[in-house]
Amino acid sequence: MAFDKFASSQSGEGDLTETLLPDTNNGERSVMISRRRRFGNFTVFLVLQVCCLGIYTAAFFSLMPKAGRVNLVYSPAAGAVKLEKVRFNATLVIESPYNGPPSDEVDAAWTALLDNMNIAVPKSDLDRVGTASIRIPGTDNMYFAGLSVFHELHCLKRLRQYTWKDHYFPDMSAEDERLNRLHTDHCLEILRQAAMCRADISLFTLQWSEKTTQPRADFSQEHECVNFDAIFQWAGRHRVDAGKPGLLVHPIHGPAYPDGTSSKIGATEDMSPTVIES
Ligand SMILES: *[C@@H]1O[C@H](CO)[C@@H](O)[C@H](O)[C@H]1NC(C)=O
Repeated sequence: MAFDKFASSQSGEGDLTETLLPDTNNGERSVMISRRRRFGNFTVFLVLQVCCLGIYTAAFFSLMPKAGRVNLVYSPAAGAVKLEKVRFNATLVIESPYNGPPSDEVDAAWTALLDNMNIAVPKSDLDRVGTASIRIPGTDNMYFAGLSVFHELHCLKRLRQYTWKDHYFPDMSAEDERLNRLHTDHCLEILRQAAMCRADISLFTLQWSEKTTQPRADFSQEHECVNFDAIFQWAGRHRVDAGKPGLLVHPIHGPAYPDGTSSKIGATEDMSPTVIES
C-alpha cells in the first residue's frame, strides 16, 4: 500500500521537492514540504529582521547627538551639549559670585549670567518644535527665542532679589506688591518643574559628626552636568539684544522698549489673544 502511494505521487507534478524526498508516504512528504515552506518563510523573516534592525540602529544613532542624549525635543543648541562630572560646592556658607547680600559685584555677576538670554533662530527651528515667535526686524527671517536654562536662571535671580525685597523692590504700590508676589510664585513653580524634569539621580550621603547627635548630609558630591560654559558661548554666538530701543515694535502699539528699559515687576496677567504679525 505504501509503495502504491509513493508510485502515484511519483506520477505527480514532479516539482523540486519530489526529487529530494526519500521513499515515504504522502503524510510524511507533506510534512517535509511544509517544513521547506516554513524554512523559506523563516529566511524572509530573518531578512526583514535584519532590515528592521538596520533601520532601528540608524534611527537610534541619528537621534543621538555627540553628547549621548536622545533629543525628544528639538533644540538648535543640542550640538553644544557636553556632559561632564562636576562636584557641587555644598557647605552651609558657599563662596560664590552669585551669593551674598546686595552689592554691585553680585548684581553684575547675575546680569552677566543672563546676558545671552535672547537669541535669534531661523523659522525652521520654530517649525521643528511647532511653535511661533516674533520676527526680528532687519533680519532675513530670523525670530526671537531663548534657551530655557536662562529663564530658570532669571527665576533664581528673581528669588534671590525677593529675599532682599526692601533693597530690590522698594516703595511699591499694593498692586505691584501683588504682581511681584505672583512673579515669585511663578518662578518657584518653574524651578520645581525644572528640577523634577532634570531629576538629578546622583547620590548624597549622611555622616555622624563629633558634636551633634543627628546625622548631617553631605551634598558635596559629583553630578552629571552639562558644561554650562559651552551652552553660554553657543547662546552668545546667537545673541540678540531684544531690549535695544526701538528694535521690538508692536504691530499696533508701537515700540516695546522705546528707552531700552522694561517693567521692574516683569509679570503680567494679560491673557488677551495673541496678535499675529502680517
Ligand atoms: C565650587 O567652588 C570653586 C571655588 O570657588 C569654583 O571654582 C567652582 O566652580 C565651584 N563649583 C561649582 C559647581 O559651582
